[in-house]
Amino acid sequence: MSTSLAALRIGFIGAGRVAQTLAPAFAGADLNVAAFYNRGRDAAQQLGSRVPSARSMTHAQQVVDSCDMVFLTVSDDAILPVCRDLRWEPRHRVVHCSGATELAALDHAKAAGASTGGFHPMQMFANPDVALEGLRGCTVGIEAEPDFRRDLEHLAVSIGCEPLALPAGVRALYHASAYYVGPFLIALLKEGVELWKSFGASEADALRAMMPLLRGTVAAVLDGGLANGMGGCVARGDVGTILKHLRALDERFPPSGALYRELALRNVPLGIERGTLSAPRAAEIEKVLRRSSREEQAVS
Ligand SMILES: NC(=O)c1ccc[n+]([C@@H]2O[C@H](COP(=O)([O-])OP(=O)(O)OC[C@H]3O[C@@H](n4cnc5c(N)ncnc54)[C@H](OP(=O)(O)O)[C@@H]3O)[C@@H](O)[C@H]2O)c1
Repeated sequence: MSTSLAALRIGFIGAGRVAQTLAPAFAGADLNVAAFYNRGRDAAQQLGSRVPSARSMTHAQQVVDSCDMVFLTVSDDAILPVCRDLRWEPRHRVVHCSGATELAALDHAKAAGASTGGFHPMQMFANPDVALEGLRGCTVGIEAEPDFRRDLEHLAVSIGCEPLALPAGVRALYHASAYYVGPFLIALLKEGVELWKSFGASEADALRAMMPLLRGTVAAVLDGGLANGMGGCVARGDVGTILKHLRALDERFPPSGALYRELALRNVPLGIERGTLSAPRAAEIEKVLRRSSREEQAVS
């Protein structure tokens, strides 16, 4: 940690899940989390209980006036108006944690001479206690002018994260990428759980069975990369199994059949790259997957 970071008074405006994770992480790294403000009382109390040494302020401007580095950890759409309603000075460093929001949302502070930056931890912040555990090793997408970027990189390292310099203009794509392995992964788990429920199992039963598979999939990808980490009927070229899946899904869960087709088509190039799926078998699988459920019924 650089001495300049240790000397900074850090404040949070917005005491939601990200603030309730980052503030204790910074405090645990011997940084000075000095003050915070939240519009509603509940989140303010929760953050206060996690970092008792930080002062709960009654107005956001008090955080700005009493701190050097201020995190605007409000919801994305509130970043610009909240920043615009505050008075900033050149001594301030103003940060938002949104993945997709451009730094221009902080232009009001920049116009007052403040340094502005983005600090986006690629992590799921649903429960701050769980997220705090998951911070170690997690990537933080950082965008700022070079001097301030170095400070934010040190800040990320001080809490065990991996800083990643984001070039200007890529935030929306960078953030969309995180959705595939965060919220969309949960959507896929839900698809699987619903199938289990159809034969009488509970969500807990289904998740208990799926978690070792999920962990095994992650381990296989970490070991061999995407293509080599992929098993399953597309990788093997088992057209008959694919047809069984499609017919069962189309009969009971037509929207799940449509999603299965989309996803299995994305598996085909990986099977070819893996070397276990021949080009003719890949073409056969693609033909089956491109047939709609109605066309499938007609040929079966
Ligand atoms: N959740 C994640 O997984 C995640 C991951 C990485 C980055 N982020 C980013 O971190 C930031 C905070 O997200 P979060 O998950 O911590 O959100 P959150 O738990 O929903 O908390 C949002 C906070 O913003 C406050 N707020 C909302 N609108 C406001 C307004 N108009 N004026 C003042 N305060 C307002 C809320 O105050 P009240 O309590 O009064 O409503 C609440 O404390 C966002 O930019 C988000 O994109 C989130």
